[in-house]
Amino acid sequence: MRLETEVLGVRFQNPFFLAAGTCGFGLELAEVLDLEVLGGFVTKSVTLEPRLGNARPRVAEFGGGMLNSIGLANPGLEKTKREKLPWIRDNVCRPRVLVSVAGHTVTEFFMLVEGLDSEDGFLGFEINLSCPNDARRGGKPFALDPSAVAEIISGCRMRTQRPLVAKLAPNDSDLPRTVRVATEQGADALTLVNTLPGVLLNVSTGDPELGAGDGGISGPALRPSGLRAVREARANTHLPLFGVGGILTAADAVEYAHAGASLVQMGTASFAWPRAAEQAIEGLMGWGRKHQIGAWDDLVSKSPGGNGSSSRSEPFDPIESAEEG
Ligand code: FUM
Repeated sequence: MRLETEVLGVRFQNPFFLAAGTCGFGLELAEVLDLEVLGGFVTKSVTLEPRLGNARPRVAEFGGGMLNSIGLANPGLEKTKREKLPWIRDNVCRPRVLVSVAGHTVTEFFMLVEGLDSEDGFLGFEINLSCPNDARRGGKPFALDPSAVAEIISGCRMRTQRPLVAKLAPNDSDLPRTVRVATEQGADALTLVNTLPGVLLNVSTGDPELGAGDGGISGPALRPSGLRAVREARANTHLPLFGVGGILTAADAVEYAHAGASLVQMGTASFAWPRAAEQAIEGLMGWGRKHQIGAWDDLVSKSPGGNGSSSRSEPFDPIESAEEG
């Protein structure tokens, strides 16, 4: 099975990315995983100022996966420019890199994009609109406010020519609207989904397991939610979609392709098994052989809505698309 795919006008050697927050800035994982096997990765979300993160413990496991509230711990804009991006530029060859940015305010997103845009070493931005663990926003992500989504995406669009990928939330009660807003305001692709808000309680004390109280659910328990969001987004936009949530195996990635994703991001699985992505990439080639599928793109193009491959074209019209067959 040929895994190469072209999305956002760029060739990816395979559709597997590591998700934001699961691989630092690449360097942190380079000793345990050959980064060069990846289609790409998304950096930890960068904020304007360095952040130490939320109170510990920040992660807890449960039967369905993991709950985290890291609190956007990251080195901040200046150190990212000074140290992290130069490392990526000098050491990462084949994988494509998206830098995730997270503002506490609308204006901070603009400052981050402006501050990073002239640097080397990365393809584009993933705009993190959906972190559920930002205490400064009281756990209410921008993604749940369509007017904030519009302002952030249109403002970032004006500030960069690079691909802009909007990362949306799984608990959006009007996801189709948010998807349309992000599309109309100039996003080039969407990532679905971030973690789902949740809490775990200590069985003896009743206290939250995480220092911050609530957190975001990831891992296998998130997959049905991620798949649903991708399907729903696919029906409301022509944009390419990154599917995220509970991907461990090649079959999980295939499920996301059926739902309408062009690329996938692996997250929690690579915490437990740093080489999970490598195994899933190999597994995908085997899966294709077994099911006589010649190319990843064939899977994607058979999904409802096909491969959203063009960027910045007209809003997707489901009726017109259905008539085109
Ligand atoms: O807590 C965190 O840093 C999580 C970020 C996110 O889910 O976007």
